Amino acid sequence: MAPDPVSGMLARAIEALEAEFGALPEFEAELGASDAAMAGVLEATAHRLGDNYPYFHPLYAGQMLKPPHPVARAAYALAMKLNPNNHARDGGRASSAMEVEAVQEIAEMFGWTEFLGHLTSSGTIANLEALWLAGQVTSGKRIVGSEQAHYTHERISGVLHLNYEGVKTDNGGRMDLEALESELRKGDVGTVVATLGTTAMGAVDRLDEILALKKSYEFRVHVDAAYGGYFGLIPEALDEPARRAFAVIGEADSIVIDPHKHGLQPYGCGCVLFRDPGVGAFYQHDSPYTYFTSQELHLGEISLECSRAGAAAVALWATQRLLPLKPGGEFARGLKRGRRAAVELDRRLREDERFEALTAGGPELDIVVWAMALHTADLWRASERNLEMFDTCAKWGLHLALVQLPGSWFEKPGGPKFVGSMRCLRSVLMKPEHEAWLDGIWERLSRACTEVLGG
Ligand SMILES: Cc1ncc(COP(=O)(O)O)c(C=O)c1O
Repeated sequence: MAPDPVSGMLARAIEALEAEFGALPEFEAELGASDAAMAGVLEATAHRLGDNYPYFHPLYAGQMLKPPHPVARAAYALAMKLNPNNHARDGGRASSAMEVEAVQEIAEMFGWTEFLGHLTSSGTIANLEALWLAGQVTSGKRIVGSEQAHYTHERISGVLHLNYEGVKTDNGGRMDLEALESELRKGDVGTVVATLGTTAMGAVDRLDEILALKKSYEFRVHVDAAYGGYFGLIPEALDEPARRAFAVIGEADSIVIDPHKHGLQPYGCGCVLFRDPGVGAFYQHDSPYTYFTSQELHLGEISLECSRAGAAAVALWATQRLLPLKPGGEFARGLKRGRRAAVELDRRLREDERFEALTAGGPELDIVVWAMALHTADLWRASERNLEMFDTCAKWGLHLALVQLPGSWFEKPGGPKFVGSMRCLRSVLMKPEHEAWLDGIWERLSRACTEVLGG
């Protein structure tokens, strides 16, 4: 592990925070354990944590897992000295103000200055709020999203007793707009969920074309950009038509973006934004226990959750102060590095006949999907071979992910018909370091492939 750059800084920041409360009389915290016992438990904890993939390392090139920035970790740990609760100003005065500022900066990325929004404990909860609101505004109408939209949309809709349906996609995982329009023609669609960056492939729904359908049909648009939202900062690094979709994201009615994915945050940090601040009226409720210490808005008044980690807001605020969400800034440059790594990995896969690159037209963001060359119509056997490759790569120290995709996507004219789904290899190259490590990744991939092919 690389040495931790912030441990000394964190110790000094803790001293500064303690000085803020220096006027209080000293007291002894009752911890119920000796220092030696705590040290022993912490060491045992470290050993237990060793049973994980090395998410922080560039050779972890699997799931959507990005190490939080050291400043985010340190700011989170610093806030833990107080453990603020951003439900109400009583529970987190400074951290609520920091949340408001940090969320404003995120909304500005989408061109919004007047809006309603807040952090949530996850992308799922952020989408739940957006769909709940959609259900309030267009009561009785259906919600549709693509079959590649995150699985939680359907589940959330079940929880909320909303009628949700999946719309088929093209073989790159983007919503089929003819299929969408035939749903809209039925006249009972209240909300369309557009995914800007699907979880499986990083596919970008054609938001510009979806919005254009509003000329003929009346519906709300919710954009699930939990994973992809930050790519709007680097349009010059995207290809058309994904770039066009990001250019109009601000025309959506609501947006979800997860700082705990691409925003360098520890888990527990999603974000939901509504273009119309007036939707706050739907949240109206009384809390007999809180909301009395300040006339200012308490974030619990515009959130479905009650307690929320103030530390998540503190970490986000600190990170965005260090690395502002600006086009051309260091944060944007980091996104570009991962994107370049994905494009390069996809290029090498396409040029190597041992593999089949499956991200149709190349990766739209920073996810690459591929398989071992398809010499068989037997998807079960093809899946087994991909799984073997996954395991062999791990043996050589390269950690990938697997994804199940419809076999029909990979049929070629005159080639075999694929019935069922295939387990494919998937890599989310979301760390800036992935770019510099691409040769190392490729070398291990190649070595594992030779072994799997019996070379
Ligand atoms: C597009 C998209 N939406 C929603 C989610 C759910 O977010 P969370 O895991 O933070 O609940 C994910 C998670 O990967 C996602 O990729």
